[in-house]
Amino acid sequence: MVKGAQLYEGKAKKVFATDDPELLIVSYKDDATAFNGLKKGTIAGKGVINNKMSNALMKLLEERGIPTHYVKELDDRNTLVKKVQIVPLEVIVRNIAAGSFAKHYGVSEGTILKVPTIEFSYKNDELGDPLLNMYHALALGLATEEELDTITEYAFRINFELRSFWAECGVTLVDFKLEFGRLPDGTIVLADEISPDTCRLWDTETGRKLDKDRFRRDLGGVEEAYQEIMGRLEAKLKE
Ligand code: TMP
Repeated sequence: MVKGAQLYEGKAKKVFATDDPELLIVSYKDDATAFNGLKKGTIAGKGVINNKMSNALMKLLEERGIPTHYVKELDDRNTLVKKVQIVPLEVIVRNIAAGSFAKHYGVSEGTILKVPTIEFSYKNDELGDPLLNMYHALALGLATEEELDTITEYAFRINFELRSFWAECGVTLVDFKLEFGRLPDGTIVLADEISPDTCRLWDTETGRKLDKDRFRRDLGGVEEAYQEIMGRLEAKLKE
């Protein structure tokens, strides 16, 4: 597969064209940002970990019937994916109150929610990814009703599968962010990444944070946490 022109550079990944118009190469960087790019840094080795973790989890989800953009891991940092038109929504599923949910609703971080919940933000850095509801998304023409239904159904199924998987690794899946895309025929597939950048993952025994909150909140041990969570995943996949 030929790596062609760079099409886009985001905060954590670059996207390249290939010789197949339906396929792209995603290249994972070690760059990390938080608070809509206000905080910047580097997490050594993050790109390799996020690439491999996201691919492993997308493969697992494919096996469980969730369509994804994943095609093939090319090397440590590069993955071949299907070209999609990204639905401009950040889809967040939560099992336990943390982060912005804990703050907005005045619940202490760590409170187990009575049922898993979902929320949507408008993916728009200039506006700071504002929260919106499904009616807002319809009114703005960001997705159709049918697409929103499919995305919601997939998001909760993904939560069920990932929560069970991480539980077997001794890790609690607190919350995570997903993005979906449309294939040329309109099929909705899971896109972007699933990694410690986009999930809150807590060691079940100790509560230790094994995700990007260590960077966001200056907790230290950032690289070690990424290595630890990747080690847990690899050990489980080897079983
Ligand atoms: P929040 O509690 O800050 O709203 O974050 C919810 C989840 O979404 C958490 O797992 C981190 C993830 N997330 C992203 O992947 N990208 C983002 O830009 C933000 C704000 C959160």
